[in-house]
Amino acid sequence: MVKEIVTVPLRQRSTNEKILFSGFLMLVGVGYLMALTLIYFTDSKLDGNPGISVQDIADNYYGNRSGTRLEAAIRGPMAPQLKSLEERNIIVDWLKSGETRNQFQKVVQPILQKDCLQCHSPTSGLNIPDLSSYQGVMKVAQVDTGTSVATLVKLSHIHLFGIGLLLLSVGMIFRHAELHPTLKNSITVAPFIAVFVDILAWYLTKWDPVYAYTVVVAGALLGLALAIQILLPLWQMWFQPRGMKTH
Ligand code: HEC
Repeated sequence: MVKEIVTVPLRQRSTNEKILFSGFLMLVGVGYLMALTLIYFTDSKLDGNPGISVQDIADNYYGNRSGTRLEAAIRGPMAPQLKSLEERNIIVDWLKSGETRNQFQKVVQPILQKDCLQCHSPTSGLNIPDLSSYQGVMKVAQVDTGTSVATLVKLSHIHLFGIGLLLLSVGMIFRHAELHPTLKNSITVAPFIAVFVDILAWYLTKWDPVYAYTVVVAGALLGLALAIQILLPLWQMWFQPRGMKTH
């Protein structure tokens, strides 16, 4: 059986090496916190409620497919602007039938011109959707299907390269921490598995929103393992009392 090579404990490293390791670990730690903050800023308002929820994650990858912003508006806050229920049904039918330009010009545009354009046109100066053209209406007339596969592929390859290198470097330092070998090996491998599962779950969530839970669980596992890999070496280098055994 191959014996684990005995290394100099982190506590006994030269100050130089300790500073090198600590500087890197702290940068990675702050970088990770920034990544969490970014998720908070980009995803937290997707479901209309403050804070990050599993619904936000689902809305990000799967989208909100229950309807379009236009339909939600004319059934909700903009309903009083329509002169009759029939007008609403005409617009909803057009949305359901696939939003052709032809039908738009024939039946939908006249209604919008009559009921909506006093506010929803570029000339009104209001920062609200422009409903004076087909292109403008289409922006609120399409079902939101979440992040596109092309964007997911772009994000995945950046994450896989970046996190791969990061986990390798952090793991090389963590290997010198004093900890029970089995525990140490598990904590070294866990984040790699978590990243794979997390990124796979992005695609699964695009297919079925229930996998948003997998994204959250894998993300939490990654965060936890990374936190241990950063904090334990830092503690052992600078704060662990002499003669104290960690395993
Ligand atoms: C009196 C001015 C006014 C009229 C008339 C009006 N709207 Fe609006 N509309 C607003 C304002 C202000 C907002 C932004 C505030 C909000 O979202 O509640 C808005 C928001 C919207 C939105 C965006 C909702 C979202 O998802 O952010 C849609 C879609 C919309 N209106 C459709 C319509 C339609 C269709 C009509 C005509 C039947 C109409 N509006 C008539 C003032 C108007």
